[in-house]
Amino acid sequence: MAKRRLVIGGNWKMYKTPTEAATTSKALKVKLINVEAVDVVVCPPATALLAVNQILKDTVVKLGGQNLHWADEGAFTGEISAKMLKDAGCSYVIVGHSERRHVFGERDEGLNKKAIKALQEGLIPIFCVGETLDDRERGRTEAVVREQLQNGLAGIVVDDPGSIVVAYEPVWAIGTGVNATPQQAEDVHAFIREFLGQLWGKATADQVRIQYGGSVKPQNAEELLGQENIDGALVGGASLNADDFAAIIKAGQSVS
Ligand code: 13P
Repeated sequence: MAKRRLVIGGNWKMYKTPTEAATTSKALKVKLINVEAVDVVVCPPATALLAVNQILKDTVVKLGGQNLHWADEGAFTGEISAKMLKDAGCSYVIVGHSERRHVFGERDEGLNKKAIKALQEGLIPIFCVGETLDDRERGRTEAVVREQLQNGLAGIVVDDPGSIVVAYEPVWAIGTGVNATPQQAEDVHAFIREFLGQLWGKATADQVRIQYGGSVKPQNAEELLGQENIDGALVGGASLNADDFAAIIKAGQSVS
């Protein structure tokens, strides 16, 4: 089977003021001018979305939010709606990042509502799953990932495989400099794809993109992205630097 079109995302987390984000975006605009073979998304902090959109709106780089609320609007201090994200230029939104789950206590039930809302609004959710080191050492990786998918994607029927992206981000690999080996990642990706096949049918699951995230760098990107079931990367630290992010995207192009 032909490799799925890769989707490479930069998750800027709580880094970069609007001014700093604009500077990085200008650099990306120049460096990514010839990128055609892969999809590229950047997810800046909410305060920088407008500034980044202004610079990247006519380029191949798409914009994503890092989180959303499931309601249309309301008295939800500190939250951001799908409509707000779309109006700011977003077409993607990260749902259930491990930092939302583990630092802010987000649970499967709420993440399910968020994923449903994103899909209803035509935003592409990047739905994140992944086990902790403790889970892995206890041999519970598949059980944990299955439960996150089962609960987080409950009631969701996907007809268009391009309407959602799943990201496998082992918690022990995020921001640690220790990436999953290509084989470790590939094994979990294959497991995820099989599970998605049970949910949505094999034909759809074969087309859904599954990103790997966790210490992706220019040095390890090509080998990770070359794995059969790895269809992109969700990059944290290395995406903050335009040279490094562009190098990861080039690695993606070279395996496409
Ligand atoms: P790092 O690339 O910094 O490990 O972060 C990964 C991540 O959390 C992307 O969402």
